[in-house]
Amino acid sequence: MSTTLYRARALDVPSGPLGGAVLRADEDLALLVADGVITRRGPWTEVSRAPEASDAVVQDLRAGLLLPGFVDTHVHFPQVRAIGGLGRPLLQWLETCALPEEARMAEPAYAAAVAEELLAGLAAAGTTTALVFGAHFSDAVETLFTAAERSGLRITAGLVVGDRNLRADLHTDPATAYEEGLALAQRWHGRGRLRYAVTPRFSFATTDEMLASCAALVDAAPGVRFTSHLNENVREVAAVAELFPQAGDYLDTYDRHGLLTPRSVLAHNVHPTDAELARLAASGTSVAHCPTSNASLGSGLFPMRRHVEVGVEVALGSDVGGGTGFCLLKEGLQAYFAQQLLGAAGLPLTAADVLHLATAAGARALGLAEVGHLSEGMAFDAVLLQPPTGTTLEAVLRHAHDADDALAKIFALGTPGDIASVWVGGEMVNRHTATPTTPMVPLTTLS
Ligand code: GUN
Ligand code: ZN
Repeated sequence: MSTTLYRARALDVPSGPLGGAVLRADEDLALLVADGVITRRGPWTEVSRAPEASDAVVQDLRAGLLLPGFVDTHVHFPQVRAIGGLGRPLLQWLETCALPEEARMAEPAYAAAVAEELLAGLAAAGTTTALVFGAHFSDAVETLFTAAERSGLRITAGLVVGDRNLRADLHTDPATAYEEGLALAQRWHGRGRLRYAVTPRFSFATTDEMLASCAALVDAAPGVRFTSHLNENVREVAAVAELFPQAGDYLDTYDRHGLLTPRSVLAHNVHPTDAELARLAASGTSVAHCPTSNASLGSGLFPMRRHVEVGVEVALGSDVGGGTGFCLLKEGLQAYFAQQLLGAAGLPLTAADVLHLATAAGARALGLAEVGHLSEGMAFDAVLLQPPTGTTLEAVLRHAHDADDALAKIFALGTPGDIASVWVGGEMVNRHTATPTTPMVPLTTLS
């Protein structure tokens, strides 16, 4: 058994509620990690003298700050290269920026390269766990799972399906969606750190028959997760109402097929009705809040207070490529901004709330009891934040008044450039392979 004794300055937020989360801060913490699991946690002076720590290899991380690994509950595999498509609302952005990239996933070499970019981007940003919207092509999803297994990250993903209102080359039919999804789920669900998620793109792109096939797949593959989009953009909401005249509201398009359970995560929900919020809470469905995407696509300001007041579980998603990058420090800051901009209707978030959103809340939404904070019995999924000398973050951290102030500064200024090491289950996962194989496009040739 390999045992490591980490000595660290550590911050984590094991529990909520949002709006009242309490930061746990330890100036000289010992974490004894055996086979990737934290077996003992306590003051360095105590744990370092314990008999079970006597053979451990000591790693002193006190040059930085140790945080739990980040949990991204909504990110799109095919959209890495679509990041930065600014200036369009959802349905135009999909047509112009996202779906052309989704179509390129039909080419195996392209899909393999993007899968590596996705996993490297997640790890570099300190994201150790993610619920990933896969691709519309079964082979590309296979490629993603293969690369994810190599990466060591905790990845839940699935075949994205739709049978209307996309490009023709992205459409499938309910029977094929079921067969291909079942084959992928049987191969990958529960293998190591990987799990399968049944993934209709959104009700706008699916018929009732397709949603029924998704429900049949959920039943056929026990334990798989379910994910899709909900109430992101006002035009989309109106279009879904027209496409599903028999449904009571957008949420009902999924509910009618039994797709709302504690294993379900729906992204955005910027424009919910009170009835939808009550149903989300009652069914245990979580909502992935994607703040940079909501701002970039002009989708709106997320009504977090209304979610939290009725008991809907909320976590954080980067929504790459509608979102502007993988870094959950940035998403956390933008989540805080959105609530500030809502004024009295907003839910004022502390830095502890934001760290909770980016870690333990995500783990809860994904049903992963073993990650989200650095307590005994948890996997050692962690991020060492160590801003380079001379950076503003390094300077201001030296002058932080207390742990809450330090954490607020981290969200205000932190980037992937400040993340020195990332572990999943005790293994380092952020090995950069930075040598570019393709030269950058000369800007003078672009028009
Ligand atoms: N709704 C359906 N597909 C997408 C997508 O790729 N991104 C976002 N933000 N919303 C969607
Ligand atoms: Zn999305």
